[in-house]
Amino acid sequence: DVVDIRTFAKTGMFTFDPGFLATAACESSITFIDGDLGQLYYRGYPIEQLAEHSDFLESCYLLLNGELPTAEQFAEFNRKIMRHNMLNDQIMSFFKGFRRDAHPMAVMVGVVGALSAFYHDSLDINDAHHREVSAHRLIAKVPNIAAQAYRYNKGLPFSYPKNGLTYSENFLHMMFSTPCEEYKVNKVLAKALDRIFILHADHEQNASTSTVRLAGSSGANPFACIAAGIACLWGPSHGGANEAVLKMLDEIGSVENVPAFMEGVKAKTHKLMGFGHRVYKNFDPRAKIMKETCDEVLNELGLRDDPKFQLAMKLEEIALSDPYFIERKLYPNVDFYSGIVLSAIGIPVSMFTPIFALARTVGWISHWTEMISDPGMKIGRPRQLYTGSVRRDYAQVADRK
Ligand code: ACO
Repeated sequence: DVVDIRTFAKTGMFTFDPGFLATAACESSITFIDGDLGQLYYRGYPIEQLAEHSDFLESCYLLLNGELPTAEQFAEFNRKIMRHNMLNDQIMSFFKGFRRDAHPMAVMVGVVGALSAFYHDSLDINDAHHREVSAHRLIAKVPNIAAQAYRYNKGLPFSYPKNGLTYSENFLHMMFSTPCEEYKVNKVLAKALDRIFILHADHEQNASTSTVRLAGSSGANPFACIAAGIACLWGPSHGGANEAVLKMLDEIGSVENVPAFMEGVKAKTHKLMGFGHRVYKNFDPRAKIMKETCDEVLNELGLRDDPKFQLAMKLEEIALSDPYFIERKLYPNVDFYSGIVLSAIGIPVSMFTPIFALARTVGWISHWTEMISDPGMKIGRPRQLYTGSVRRDYAQVADRK
């Protein structure tokens, strides 16, 4: 007979927790979130201090290795990342198999997964050196892959990284330089992008990181696992939210339409994208930093009166004083502002989630490394609460009703 596992639940041997609201699946020493207080720490350092004093590559070293680097350690790390930032010419040909109008996230899932087919020399997950080289390759190559996905979509020739620029400056250069004109780096915009990278670098066991861990728990190689993480991040409830915020602002159109839109939110016909978070039941600390960055960027570009920004501010103002949002502890999350910043920098909406993916790659690979290095690692295998039919006998087709 079919055994109904609810009988196990009654004896306390089984937990039923859809959406993992109260189930920890691992131990981790990388990132800590206090959702009630709205605090976020990478390896014990408050996110506000990292956003102000660190840069993305230094934060990558911290997340991967557990400590801030000395000057020598950072120079060596920087050298290794620069050494790996090119893409093999055959990988460049691989892009050409996609339709030009493919979403850059679709291209990223494919190309990052395809790295498994190129780097046989770093696929042994039981070898610490292989794990480290794979981590460096991913951190170095993913911005290049994202930039080329954009260029392919635009019909632009592929570009190459330029050593000597910072990580975020290099990304802007790869996105926007043309054979006729080199992209002139604006330090304020590059700093804002770098901050977006830092704020998105890790967020403990979110859906995409849990996906990377689950894929990795079977012993799959790191490139395949990160491709799985990118696929999960693509969804509008997760990494697709920054793109969804801009689409929502376009749909609302202007400030006069906000009250009608809010009525629809409360009637649950649609959500206010960029609001709410599974863990933060307070202001998302990343959103506070992003809001300041948003101000800096709009001032730099003279866009303070931009209607889209005004519309976003109106939505925020109404939501923060509305009982629907207050009772449910719904506050703006990081993506409410990051989309506005990216849009002001000139980055098209379809590249918002790829930028999240490139920043989160270091978090994913840090979690993967932590998990694989644990001698007690087990394959992830959730159970289920079966709700189907009880045992029954096969009926010949002529006897079926
Ligand atoms: N707009 C309107 N109502 C909302 C919103 C929202 N953005 N978010 C949650 N609610 C409501 C729900 O309808 C629910 O109401 P109810 O109690 O009357 O049923 C209540 O608030 C609780 O929401 P849940 O869906 O249970 O919260 P959960 O933790 O499962 O979801 C999530 C969190 C997915 C982020 C949700 O808030 C959401 O969809 N937000 C919009 C998308 C978004 O911005 N995602 C980005 C997340 S951050 C990131 O990935 C970096």
